Amino acid sequence: MHTVLVTGGCGFIGSNFVHYILEKDPEVNVVNFDCLTYAGNLANLADVSAHPRYRFIRGDITDREGVRAAIGTGVQSIIHFAAESHVDRSIQDSGPFVKSNIVGTQILLDAARAANLQRYVQVSTDEVYGSLGETGYFTEETPLAPNSPYSASKAGADLLVRGYVHTYGFPGLITRCSNNYGPYQFPEKLIPLFISNLMRDQQVPVYGDGKNVRDWIHVRDHCAGVYRVWKEGKVGEVYNFGGRCEKTNLELTHTLLKILNKPESLIKYVKDRPGHDRRYAIDCRKAERELGWHPEVPFEQGLRDTVQWYQEHTAWVDNIRTGEYLKYYERQYVERER
Ligand code: NAD
Ligand code: DAU
Repeated sequence: MHTVLVTGGCGFIGSNFVHYILEKDPEVNVVNFDCLTYAGNLANLADVSAHPRYRFIRGDITDREGVRAAIGTGVQSIIHFAAESHVDRSIQDSGPFVKSNIVGTQILLDAARAANLQRYVQVSTDEVYGSLGETGYFTEETPLAPNSPYSASKAGADLLVRGYVHTYGFPGLITRCSNNYGPYQFPEKLIPLFISNLMRDQQVPVYGDGKNVRDWIHVRDHCAGVYRVWKEGKVGEVYNFGGRCEKTNLELTHTLLKILNKPESLIKYVKDRPGHDRRYAIDCRKAERELGWHPEVPFEQGLRDTVQWYQEHTAWVDNIRTGEYLKYYERQYVERER
């Protein structure tokens, strides 16, 4: 058996990954280390909370002692998802981004090194490469040119991992993925926000001219990629993941209107995001060549399934919209103490 510390397992991709790895690999124990920010939701993992190979520790990656203690429970690898992840929030206040994404990563790296861990995967993003014009793709060799406080903090973390690999022979690997969609995504990001607004006949705010392009990948394909990197990736290497599915925000919005059978009058053009990156597009041939990974979920199907998931989980969204989900952990705790 191998014990993996998954950080940020209560968020969108982390919770999908915990589900994925528990099902995929019977030789893995998962310790989920998450401090439950606004984006962490225990309801995302309610179905595995009593799983014999799963354990939750509420802890903050910026707490050196807490991280050391969690690793001390028999952890052999770290797969690091925990981060502040929303660009718009980073524009309002970069403080939590620098703290969690950069300082948190440094603390994890030091603790992993001190404990002589076998492997460390840094889950990063294509946003560290900056923005593309109408042509071209991000490869693993594209120079880092982050444009937002969020992407700058993720790039800083990636560079720390690189520095530890080169200086200490640290067993670190980095993944950089494009925009994910799927179940359990917090309804502040484009797809879940628009689905949940449209389901309530509320308008959807399209930034600027709506022509910014994102490369969409189903979260399950991203999780499969992170798992392959953890199992088979070469230490010190970076692996890009993307869905080969470029859409303008307007195209995507029209597809959602069609799936949900809603009128175009629900589109509301709003002021653009400051510094808004125009286009992301990932060249993921390295992961295909070296890891035998491919994006498998067709976008049309994945998007329909995602809409259906939100339609079937209205209580999950309502609990977030009302803030009720924030009381979930406290309530569980009080019930246990009784
Ligand atoms: P998310 O915001 O949904 O979840 C983040 C999780 O991390 C939450 O559970 C939160 O409680 C936890 N967390 C935050 N700060 C923490 C801290 N200091 N200590 C412990 N836990 C903390 O994020 P997501 O969209 O699931 O993204 C996960 C990772 O994947 C991030 O590193 C992000 O940069 C990266 N990524 C995201 C996407 C995407 O499209 N969402 C694409 C590529 C890469
Ligand atoms: O590319 C990977 C990144 O994708 C991840 O690293 C980030 O964590 C993740 O949040 C995501 O970043 P984006 O900024 O691309 O995602 P977001 O859903 O915020 O926005 C997608 C596009 O939609 C972007 O061009 C901005 C636009 N948008 C977004 C929102 C929330 C709107 O037009 N209206 C909105 O209300």
